[in-house]
Order: sequence, then structure tokens, then C-alpha cells
Amino acid sequence: MSLSVVILAAGKGTRMRSSLPKVLHPVAHQSMVEHVIDSARSVNASNLYVVYGFGGDVLKERINGDDLSFVEQKEQLGTGHAVDMASPHLKDDEDVLVLYGDVPLTKVSTLESLIAAKPENGMALLTVKLANPTGYGRIVRLNGDVVGIVEQKDANAEQLLINECNTGILLANGGDLKRWLSNLSNDNAQGEYYLTDIIAMAHNEGKAIATAHPETEIEVEGANNRVQLANLERAYQLRQAEELMLNGASLRDPNRIDVRGQVEVGSEVQIDVNCIFEGKVSLADNVTIGANCIIINSQIGEGAEIKPNSIIENAIIGEQCSAGPFARIRPNTELKANSHVGNFVELKNTTMDEGAKAGHLTYLGDAEVGKKVNIGAGTITCNYDGVNKSKTIIGDGAFIGSNASIVAPVKIGKMATTAAGSVLTKDVEDDALAVARAKQRNISGWQRPTKKS
Ligand code: UD1
Ligand code: CA
Repeated sequence: MSLSVVILAAGKGTRMRSSLPKVLHPVAHQSMVEHVIDSARSVNASNLYVVYGFGGDVLKERINGDDLSFVEQKEQLGTGHAVDMASPHLKDDEDVLVLYGDVPLTKVSTLESLIAAKPENGMALLTVKLANPTGYGRIVRLNGDVVGIVEQKDANAEQLLINECNTGILLANGGDLKRWLSNLSNDNAQGEYYLTDIIAMAHNEGKAIATAHPETEIEVEGANNRVQLANLERAYQLRQAEELMLNGASLRDPNRIDVRGQVEVGSEVQIDVNCIFEGKVSLADNVTIGANCIIINSQIGEGAEIKPNSIIENAIIGEQCSAGPFARIRPNTELKANSHVGNFVELKNTTMDEGAKAGHLTYLGDAEVGKKVNIGAGTITCNYDGVNKSKTIIGDGAFIGSNASIVAPVKIGKMATTAAGSVLTKDVEDDALAVARAKQRNISGWQRPTKKS
């Protein structure tokens, strides 16, 4: 059976106090509605309809996909009216899943259990028992069977005691859904076309109404303001942390890690507190990440150690390398096996070949550093003349003395040595020593200046 998904996203989100449509507010760097879209795709939805009211242009600009269609709801006349906006697109012989653009943490397994629960000739509802059901629609049962949903504002005293609540998420046959939606009225306490009224219609037609339930309440919670959004963020992060641990990583504190993308981990990975991972990151076996590191779209090889306070972006760190503390590894950088960068070293568009070292206070940009090269403290590649970027090539086994300025383009030969404090503007041949600094002069008996009266 093919499946279409209608995602309700027409709410303005006034309580966010933002010019951004509510559903574009992010959880872990991805908008809430994109989380919902991802989940819908994971249950093999063939068509996704996003019902929007405000900010349609931004929405269309920010989220896209061949399977995605945008349906406008000009006036917010209720959840039933919102779903009905998609009716012209829905097929009679498909299943239709209704999701909410501001409820981002529903697990795919929960949606799968809802889909599995739907009787052939009936519908399925996702419901949850809440200690405090205030505000929610209540599930009305008769002899155990669901017979309707009553909204908080329309409920009588007895119904208000029901703690089984409507999450809003449901699954129905397309033909049934369209028929029921076309018969909705807004004769209720809020003067809205309630989607929830279709439940009684289904019951009156003798349809079976099955229920499924989320594992945890957070799966069905929405965010109306930034406090609730932050709450979803922490719940999502804890979920990510648990997944990493179940995949074999040790986290010093699962409450102090942020994953804003996908992290793949090998075995025996150790992650200290306050690390942030963004985009696609992979950490191979036996990798250690120190406290306060930020790692973005990078691969860290087996046994590598990233020491505290390091920032690594779009880089490849090879096996058994070490970086930091306080290393800044910028895009297009590769550390090959067993290489090392120490504190206050910045690398950009640079390759450090096997066993190369830059231990302290160094900037290497647009550089190729050969095998087992040693870069002395304070070395700087002068790779930019204000207009063009130029390349520095340092041959295998070279030794760059401390505080060198390497004025690119320049090539330093294999096993060459450069004297400390050199300003290197010319190529250095293999095995040579380059001394490029003013000669020291000593003036004996030097008279220091005296204070003027
Ligand atoms: C709705 C349910 C209630 C359920 C609760 C769960 C109805 C009538 N009630 O109540 O049973 O317990 O959700 O949170 O369905 N929306 C539109 N267009 C509209 C109206 C709403 O797109 O015209 C969207 C909103 O942006 C929001 C969602 O639908 O994302 C729910 O709307 P809201 O008015 O918040 O419903 P509730 O009153 O909370
Ligand atoms: Ca409402």
C-alpha cells in the first residue's frame, strides 16, 4: 500500500517571537520540519505534503526534495481544515499519515508500529497516557473501543478525567479521510474544523480504530516557544549520546555532548565532556577526543588522539596522529599517519605527511609538508600576498628552525635545514642549510638611555 504524509506546518508560532516560521526553528542544527520529513522518508512515504500558512517562501527555499509538495492553508481554520488542504492530492487507495511539523522527535519505530496497527478496513491513532492531560484531546472509549476524541474545551467533567490523550498523529485510508474531512463542521467551543472529529465518523461507519503508543512522551511533544524547543534539543542530544554509547563509545558525561549531524564511531572511542560534532564525523577505533573539542565534517583515524580545546573542520586525521591541545585544523587539511600538531597550531589546506610534526605556535596554509619533517615553534607560512595564495612545499626529513617566515611560493628540499629566525624567500636545495637572517652584532659597553628630568 502506498503511503502519503501530510505534515501540518501552518501555525505562525507567535510564542517563538521570531520572524522565522515556527517549524524552521532547529533541533540540532536541523529544522523541526526536516526532522519530521526525515522520519516520513524512513517509513517510505512516496509523497509528502507540507501544509503551510506563513512564511511559505522561506519554507520552500529552506526545505526541498522531489517527494515534497507545498500546500497553502490561507486561514488557520483548524487541524481538519489543514489536512483537507491536501485532499485534492490524496488518492483513495493509499494510506495517509498525518504528522506535525513542530513535533520533531517521533521515532521511526513508533511510526512503524502505528502503520502496523492500522486494520485493513479502519484507522490507527497514536495516543499517549499523560499524568497531566490538560490541553490535550481525550480519547473516548466504550467497552475498550475508541469511539471518539473530545477536545479539552469541549469536554465534560467526566471526560476531563480521561488521561489517554490524542497526540494528533494518525493514519487513515485516503478515500475515507477525504470523505470524513468534507463532512466536518466547526460547531464547537473553538469554532474550528477539528481533525479529531473524524474519529467519531469512523466509529459510526463501523470502522475499527486501533491505537499505538510512543515509547516516551518526548516523542510526541511539540515546541511552541524557545523553552520547549530547548527541552526538545536536550532530549534529542541525550538520545544521540545514548546511541553513541550503545555503538561502543564511552562518553565521560552523556549530558555534555552535542551532535548536530551524524557521528559514526568505532570501538573503544572515548569522548570527554563538552564536545560538539557537526555534519558527518567519523571516529575510528580507539580514538580519544579531549574536552571542549569541536569537530565538523571530519574523519579521525584509528588510535588518533585529539587533545582538549581543538577545532577540526573538513579535515582528515590519520591513524595514530595527535592534535592539540588548542589545535585549529581548518578545511582541506590532512594529517597522515603518526603526524602531530601541538598547541596553538593552525593548519589550512595543508598536508602533513607521515610522521611530520608541528609542535607549537605555528601557521601552515597551502602547504605540503613531507614525511618526518619537523616544524619549529613559531613557524609561519606567508601564503598570502594580499591578492594571491601561494604554495609551500617542504621535502621529507627537512628541519625548519623556530620562528621561520616561509614566504610562498617556496620549496624546501629533502633533509634541508633552515636556521631559526629565517625569512625564507628562495628555494632551498636538498640537504642544504639555509640561513636567512641578519647577522648578530654585539656592541660592547652599551650605554642605555637615561630618564629626562
Ligand atoms: C491538537 C488536537 C488535540 C491533540 C493536540 C496534540 C485537534 C482539534 N486537536 O490540539 O486533540 O491532543 O493537538 O498536541 O486536532 N495547524 C495548522 N492549521 C490549522 C490549525 C493547526 O496547520 O488551521 C497546525 C498547528 O500549526 C500545529 C498543529 O496543527 O502544528 C496542531 O494545532 P493546535 O491548534 O496546536 O492543536 P491543539 O489545540 O494543540
Ligand atoms: Ca487549537
